[in-house]
Amino acid sequence: MNSVMIKPLKIGKVLLKNNLVLAPMSGITDMTFRLIAKKGGAGLVCTEMISSNALVHKDNKTKKMLRISKDEHPVSVQIFGSKPEAMKEAAKIVEDSGADIVDINLGCPANKIVKSGAGVRLMDNEKTTADIIENVVKSVKIPVTIKIRIGRSEGENLAPHIIKMAEKLEVKAVTIHGRAAKLQHSGKPDLSAVKQACESANLPIIGNGGIINEKTASEFLESTGCDGLMIGRAAIEDPGIFERIEYFLNTGKTKPEPSWEKRINYLKNHAETASEYYGEKVALLRLRKIAPYYLKGLPNATKIRASFNKIVSLKELDELLSMVWKSPYFEDV
Ligand SMILES: Cc1cc2nc3c(=O)[nH]c(=O)nc-3n(C[C@H](O)[C@H](O)[C@H](O)COP(=O)(O)O)c2cc1C
Repeated sequence: MNSVMIKPLKIGKVLLKNNLVLAPMSGITDMTFRLIAKKGGAGLVCTEMISSNALVHKDNKTKKMLRISKDEHPVSVQIFGSKPEAMKEAAKIVEDSGADIVDINLGCPANKIVKSGAGVRLMDNEKTTADIIENVVKSVKIPVTIKIRIGRSEGENLAPHIIKMAEKLEVKAVTIHGRAAKLQHSGKPDLSAVKQACESANLPIIGNGGIINEKTASEFLESTGCDGLMIGRAAIEDPGIFERIEYFLNTGKTKPEPSWEKRINYLKNHAETASEYYGEKVALLRLRKIAPYYLKGLPNATKIRASFNKIVSLKELDELLSMVWKSPYFEDV
């Protein structure tokens, strides 16, 4: 048995069935993928980050990002921006769209976002950050959470200070991505810094960064004492990772990793569900970003990936995926 176990996490009034969260991922965690991750055992799913300015200006494409299925609750919608007034208006729009939680992005290191004064840039600007949080909290009844980086560069730990501010402003949970912003998405998370932050916190802390399997999940929980885990890229390789981690933490036993057949079926199922919503052509275009994760490690993945970028219909996808089994690696399948 493990020393850490799965426990239901409560974020404000929202009770999750466990403490495992699908990370917000731009271009990936749309409704289709969130439904898949929910089936895979996630206790909370998050939208990709949505521009508060675009929401306020009623941009059609952005409004579509707010589509929520009745089958995916509880769902957290993440917004980004640098203007307190726009963030406040956007949070109201998010609440009206049926979200259970609104999350504020304080951790995105992408150039475009940072240049606009949003994302991780806000961690340098305490006054604006406080204004944004205060405006958002006051404008909605649903719980407000924030997602931060541990710091801007390695060795820096800004989390305890931001957490104190968040507590005063009635934020209900904080996600800490344990990698410094300069590291983007690579390198190891600083677990001792996350531990320090958890020790100073009086609200739930969700740890994130580098959780790829049962072992890394239990290490993260054990060494930081955080209340929940958020999983990003490993959930695209196996959306059933939440179920696997929950099983392991509750029983000490491991479930087998998904077979290739199962992973290919995830991809097919994703393409079919996305086609119902976007139409086949757009769905397959969007899948170009996601397919490499589903196919990671496949013996002939490079060849398949290259062809993937040319297909525009489900029929072509079926034909392409049938190639998988023609690899000598799968002779016995
Ligand atoms: C393709 C991609 C898109 C991402 N988009 C967002 C986003 O919209 N909002 C956000 O807060 N983080 C975003 N992230 C960061 C993830 O939420 C997560 O913090 C990061 O991937 C680390 O977790 P992991 O090591 O489990 O992947 C993104 C990451 C990736 C790889």
